[in-house]
Amino acid sequence: MHDFLNDTRFAGIKRFEKKLWLSSPTMHGEEQHWVDEAIQTNWVSTVGANINEVEKLMAEYVGVKYAVGLSCGTSALHLATKLAGEKLYGQARPNAGTLQGHRVFCSDVTFDASINPVAYEDGEAVFIDTERDTWNMDPAALEKAFELYPEVKLVVVAHLYGTPGKMDEIKAICDRHGALIVEDAAESLGAKYRLNGQWVETGALGDYNAISFNGNKIITGSAGGLFLTDSREDADKVRKWSTQSREAAPWYQHEEIGYNYRMSNIIAGVIRGQIPHLDEHIAQKKAIYERYREGFKGLPVSMNPIDFENSIPNYWLSCMIIDGDAMAPMVRGEQDYLYRSEPGKSSPHEILDAIAAFNAEGRPIWKPMHMQPIYRTHAFITVEGNGRGRSNAYIAGSGVDVGADIFRRGLCLPSDNKMTAEQQAVVIEIIKRCFR
Ligand SMILES: Cc1ncc(COP(=O)(O)O)c(C=O)c1O
Repeated sequence: MHDFLNDTRFAGIKRFEKKLWLSSPTMHGEEQHWVDEAIQTNWVSTVGANINEVEKLMAEYVGVKYAVGLSCGTSALHLATKLAGEKLYGQARPNAGTLQGHRVFCSDVTFDASINPVAYEDGEAVFIDTERDTWNMDPAALEKAFELYPEVKLVVVAHLYGTPGKMDEIKAICDRHGALIVEDAAESLGAKYRLNGQWVETGALGDYNAISFNGNKIITGSAGGLFLTDSREDADKVRKWSTQSREAAPWYQHEEIGYNYRMSNIIAGVIRGQIPHLDEHIAQKKAIYERYREGFKGLPVSMNPIDFENSIPNYWLSCMIIDGDAMAPMVRGEQDYLYRSEPGKSSPHEILDAIAAFNAEGRPIWKPMHMQPIYRTHAFITVEGNGRGRSNAYIAGSGVDVGADIFRRGLCLPSDNKMTAEQQAVVIEIIKRCFR
């Protein structure tokens, strides 16, 4: 790697003694209290007051009737997706998922945990390209996808980095086609969207909704997730599936496949201690976003875009994207990369390497699912229709691929809510000097 610490462009900048994280857990003290209480009262399994409280408080916060505590966001998304499949296509057999033989439209630029549950349920994900206004699923590409696959009845939508997508348009398209929505609000707890003039929390916008309390999220339990719904029947079903699908018999009797997905009361204690700090964390993350936006003025970059009129993000991660004409050469293989410095230009990997050299953590944008080796054979739909195989050796220019472009030019910045304004000013200075 390039020796950034001895590069004259960075003269006078000192390496951070303590690492600046992308987004690390922030504990406050109450967490310890609820965990200790669980241990002292011996409620250390998957039942107890902490789980009940987390479910109650979070359902109230998000504005849904029921929340079911699960082991992680991925298990919440799995059961949400399974339930949607069961509603659409009937009960699964033990050896075949509820989506077998069916396509599902999915966000493309997201963590694979959003959409892997489609495969767990034996469905086939079809990836929908991204728009430039919020970096989420493009409604125009979704509309195109329904033209190509009118039989599709399920859409999995994620809100990237805490910024809600264009849910009014996405919901209207889904309604028109009779499709259900699985909402992945793992990254966006506390973010709001104006739907038909009403502010609604993410996690309450889909037919089946999931959030995550993973260690890097806006609040954490070290792990944990919630399934969120207004349907009592759906909540009961998810609770049953998550505790091995036990029937009402004195012995372990099973009519359905079960999972060990329930939240632990110890984990729930950590989450319970974090809940009072959710709004404070959002305010800290917002300040981080605004300081970056201010600090980058004059640089050929912009921040991850937000639709301020229709959404209030939770600002989970601050991201930036380099202007196309300020991109220095950079290439990526499947597991490695190479770049060159050029005056006035930079690249995501130069910036990530530079801040890493000074002991700060950033990250590339989620690599789009349609570019992932495992999903390379799956359809990818853009505003132009089929997004695969669009280049032509005999015709100049290739097709639209917004997700690939954001992945190429964008990156996630250190966004830890314990980062001080002074430390952030140094990160901004390092990034500025990358463009020298
Ligand atoms: C968009 C998205 N979906 C799903 C998940 C999965 O959540 P978990 O790690 O709690 O399983 C995460 C984060 O980890 C995520 O960022």
